[in-house]
Amino acid sequence: MKRQTLAFAGAALLALASSAHAQNDPLAPTGRWSANADGHAPVPPMGWNSWNAFNSDVDEEKVLASARALVDTGLARLGYRYVNIDDGWWLKRRESDGRLIIRTAHFPSAATGKNPSFRPLTDRLHAMGLKAGIYSDLGRNSCGQIYTPDFKNQPEGSVAEREVGLYGHIEQDIRLFFAEWNFDLIKVDGCGVRGLPEDAPRVRSGLYRALPPLVDMQSLGASDVAGVRKLYTEVGRALRVHSHGRPYVYSLCLWGAGDVRSWGKDVGNMSRTSDDIQPLWGRMLTNLDTVTHRALYAHPGSWNDADMLFVGTGDFDQQHEVEARSHFSLWAMLNSPLIIGYDLRKLTPELLAIFGNAEIVALNQDPAGNQAVLAYDSDEVQIFVKTLADGGKAVALFNRTGAPRKAILTAEQLKLLATSEVRLRDLWSKEESSFRGDTELVLAAHETRVFRAGGTRRLADGLYLSEQPGRINPAVDGVPAPLPDPTIHQSITPWVGTRGGGEHVQYGGWGGAEADRAPFGKLLRIAGKPYDTGIGILAGSRLEVRNAGFSRFNAMVGVNDSGRPSDGPVVFEVWGDGKLLARSGAMVFGTPAEALQANVAKVRIVELVARAGNGAVRQPTPQPATWAEAAFLK
Ligand code: GAL
Repeated sequence: MKRQTLAFAGAALLALASSAHAQNDPLAPTGRWSANADGHAPVPPMGWNSWNAFNSDVDEEKVLASARALVDTGLARLGYRYVNIDDGWWLKRRESDGRLIIRTAHFPSAATGKNPSFRPLTDRLHAMGLKAGIYSDLGRNSCGQIYTPDFKNQPEGSVAEREVGLYGHIEQDIRLFFAEWNFDLIKVDGCGVRGLPEDAPRVRSGLYRALPPLVDMQSLGASDVAGVRKLYTEVGRALRVHSHGRPYVYSLCLWGAGDVRSWGKDVGNMSRTSDDIQPLWGRMLTNLDTVTHRALYAHPGSWNDADMLFVGTGDFDQQHEVEARSHFSLWAMLNSPLIIGYDLRKLTPELLAIFGNAEIVALNQDPAGNQAVLAYDSDEVQIFVKTLADGGKAVALFNRTGAPRKAILTAEQLKLLATSEVRLRDLWSKEESSFRGDTELVLAAHETRVFRAGGTRRLADGLYLSEQPGRINPAVDGVPAPLPDPTIHQSITPWVGTRGGGEHVQYGGWGGAEADRAPFGKLLRIAGKPYDTGIGILAGSRLEVRNAGFSRFNAMVGVNDSGRPSDGPVVFEVWGDGKLLARSGAMVFGTPAEALQANVAKVRIVELVARAGNGAVRQPTPQPATWAEAAFLK
């Protein structure tokens, strides 16, 4: 460690440095990538799920018809391979040995004798070149049992026989699903750890056993974040064991509750960030908003899941092609898994043209795995920019409103030189155009225009960190206590209408790390100087960055102007594979940014640590710490 060559900001910092590896220092660099690396989701999983199309009224005929449609239409070849059976497949848990029994009246091929098995069905799907997904719940009971008594295909029998969820049966069920039945994906819902408190009417009536809730959708404070995370982690451990080395996908379905938007990336391969999507424009906005500011929380191996597609239904049906394309384009740009929720027996050429737009699908499946970053944000128009593996750009301009809007796209937003020509290819109309500096585009009501863009990169010999969110993991994001994110669209929920006071959104993550923005939806600005690129995070944080062969790291560091003078200084450190490479002085609110540089040649994991300069590991109101213009250079 070349400590002596570094500038120090006083004796207090020396003490900090020597204790950096201390076990109790949550910011101690590890030289490791700590986000989930198990399971197999190098790109967002794609496929079909029974839920949006059939609710719990699912059967073998419907599943196979959709599977056949995926193959016959060419959608499977485009990547739509997972065929997922959602709620409604189970009959009961056999009391003698705890084995789950399939509803064979609806899945005839599962009637294989004493022990019904999904193996014939998964074999069939595998033979078609597809993958098979199954559904379960983290608690003892399913969503239908708890919330929708009039659901079709409810589990039957005694209290114990109706306990079809994983709780108390994790090893047994995961073994059954993966080692015996050969499934490739599991979606694990969380209703059972949410809806059965002691005083629930269904518990008091003797229908179900009580399970003290771990999450409360209405209250982050009343949720046991560590408890629910632990249970999901146990399922993950069982999956590793019982998949016997076969690739699998672990899909978390906690609807953004329990602050899962912050930790889902450490546990599963995809994680729901919001409550259920509905075929309604407002609900699509809600789900979209739960992922847009979370680009740094998604990477190859762990994706933000804005829920399944509702293309083909309601506000996104064939009469609403503009809306359907918007929904699809946004999910693709934001790397949400593309899971069709439509009865594919009814697929029309128009809908196929949406699901099958290969150039849009390619954005979602781009191997770099960079979720699009918000380049411009308002209640009316949003501009998302995605950096692709070949260094090229994709951009989506989205009109959230029901009236036409003009939008100006600038070369700067694409991190391309304003003085050179920027070429655009419209991925829906296939028209080509070009501009210099900026261009004005007209967006129809609810329209999203999506382009591939090429030009001269502003940073000729490197990549800004905000252009590679797929390689960044906010291992510790500095958020002192989970708070609900107030920027999420509050839609009218179809299940309540406008009764009561309205949905009180409780999706955690407010104040988390952001690309090209400061926490709390603020812009990057240090001592009056705006920056249009960088990573915004809170003091008390540690980012892990995978270095893809670059040799230098540069940034301008300082306290963002959205902070407060009273919240103390911030010290910025750059670590390479566990060794300290550079450290800033104690940066104080209102003072200009300091240049920080480090030699990262041959370093695999660069860690960016922002510490409260007064030595406090956790502050009640941490300063926003800005890594402006952070970049890797050749
Ligand atoms: C919900 C879940 C839906 C669907 C449903 C089944 O909790 O979010 O996607 O799986 O349960 O009952």
